[in-house]
Amino acid sequence: MLISLFPSISPLVICCSVVLAVGIACLLRHVLMRENEDEISHTGTGKISRRLGSFERYFSIIASGYSTCYLNTVLLLESKVKLDPGHLKTALLMLSERFALLRMRITVDNVFQQCFEEMEDPQSLEFQTRMDIDSENWMSAFNEHINCAPFNTEKGPLWRVTLLRETTESEGEGILYKNALLFTFHHIICDARSVFEFKNKLLQFLGSLYNGKAMKVETLAFRPTLERMTLNLTKPNILERLLIPLLVGCSKLSAMIRKPKMANLYLLKFPPNVRDSLAQTTHAIPRRLTKEQTMALVSCCKANGCTVHGAITAATHLAMKQIIEPEQTEQKPPLLFDSNYTVDIRQQCEPKLGREEFGLYAMFDALQIEVKGTEEFWDFSRTCTNKVHRKIDSGEHMNFLKLIQCVNLPSLWNLFCSETKHGQRKELFNLTNLGVLSIDQEGKSPYKFAGAYFAVQSAKFPFITGNEIFTINDQLYWTVEYSPEIITRSRAQDFVDLSLRILMDACIS
Ligand SMILES: *[C@@H]1O[C@H](CO)[C@@H](O)[C@H](O)[C@H]1NC(C)=O
Ligand SMILES: *[C@@H]1O[C@H](CO)[C@@H](O)[C@H](O)[C@H]1NC(C)=O
Ligand SMILES: *[C@@H]1O[C@H](CO)[C@@H](O)[C@H](O)[C@H]1NC(C)=O
Repeated sequence: MLISLFPSISPLVICCSVVLAVGIACLLRHVLMRENEDEISHTGTGKISRRLGSFERYFSIIASGYSTCYLNTVLLLESKVKLDPGHLKTALLMLSERFALLRMRITVDNVFQQCFEEMEDPQSLEFQTRMDIDSENWMSAFNEHINCAPFNTEKGPLWRVTLLRETTESEGEGILYKNALLFTFHHIICDARSVFEFKNKLLQFLGSLYNGKAMKVETLAFRPTLERMTLNLTKPNILERLLIPLLVGCSKLSAMIRKPKMANLYLLKFPPNVRDSLAQTTHAIPRRLTKEQTMALVSCCKANGCTVHGAITAATHLAMKQIIEPEQTEQKPPLLFDSNYTVDIRQQCEPKLGREEFGLYAMFDALQIEVKGTEEFWDFSRTCTNKVHRKIDSGEHMNFLKLIQCVNLPSLWNLFCSETKHGQRKELFNLTNLGVLSIDQEGKSPYKFAGAYFAVQSAKFPFITGNEIFTINDQLYWTVEYSPEIITRSRAQDFVDLSLRILMDACIS
């Protein structure tokens, strides 16, 4: 119609006008949004509240569709004394007094923007005891937790706790009590590093309650949004505000017209059982190294000039290469593996945040590494280490934070979903390494840390496996997450065991 009326208007002019119109609309939206900035306020009833940032809203959108994007973790304890569930509840309440985000629910303000707001009853807990599952069989309860019902976000709290049945074991003259605690947190309130901080404080509070010592809880400040705290690094300029939505629009258009093509190397070789990976359940495989193995790994990484993260990246890539392409020949072209890794950005916030903070301060970034399969292990580990360091130094891990401030979030998520359905996304793993941590290493608390595992339901994303790794009190814990519709349990096990074997072999030789 328009073209027939003005035959002289070329498609190029129309294109340019559309581009301009979209750009203006985006700028306008930006200006309008700025009027009601995400400041922390107090409601009429004195409750703390603030609008969600883009990053939080993105996770909230993901979670609302699939009850995914929850952090799940198990904490194993051993003690010479029984665990008093009353003490446990008190300690949990002390934690929610300390960390404001544990008291939050999600509401909507008068302009329909999602906000955090303190719960009506800040003392409410979602706590249950399961007498039907022994603490030693925590794995089955953990799998249930990973795939649990969504949170009632309007009511809160945005986390839940399950205590399993205490078991005992005789140890010398006395009795050893074993407990397993399962936690699920909504990802919008915290990252994996924060969950560790939560556990650390929990043991401290439990210890002082057991010793009958009164303890004053120090309440930490409720923080502004991540975008605001990284304003200097992530604030998009006008050009970016114009161009990024256009790029996303183009990807959407091309996703609509192009015939979906599988790009995931693993799925090309082993086609998935089902198409829609997002609808599937996540399962976990726990692994750990002994203290001796962990120390050996750390010291030979040091001796070879690479980080443990670099060595693990190398090992996972070599293992995946062997699974996808077992025969190694010099003639074959190398494979390109895509993965994502997580970066803690507490130190890049303004003000700088300390380790004790609880919140969502983890960004992720994409990594692409070439694997021949014939690399010398430590050379390859150094390559991986340098690659990650270079990306972080150039600030690439902040790009996603910039991106989400420029585009419409539901449409970004829809694009991601449509790309995911047919295995078009290339990422093979999500790898999070929290590094070296310690919990009550002096052994002050009567409840001793006896292990921890972690799962984020990464397997619901196009990742073949999600890997959560950390070293607590000199022992490395590694959880692999997978979805049985994407990768079989035995192959996911082979993957992690092969990765660990490659790592340990490299340390011995
Ligand atoms: C941004 O950078 C400027 C100059 O480098 C500095 O003065 C300012 O405090 C920074 N602001 C934030 C929020 O980081
Ligand atoms: C991996 O990271 C990139 C860059 O941060 C992001 O755009 C992409 O969505 C991530 N992949 C997944 C599957 O989350
Ligand atoms: C990858 O793992 C990290 C930390 O475990 C998590 O924050 C992030 O959301 C995960 N990414 C995806 C897309 O699952």
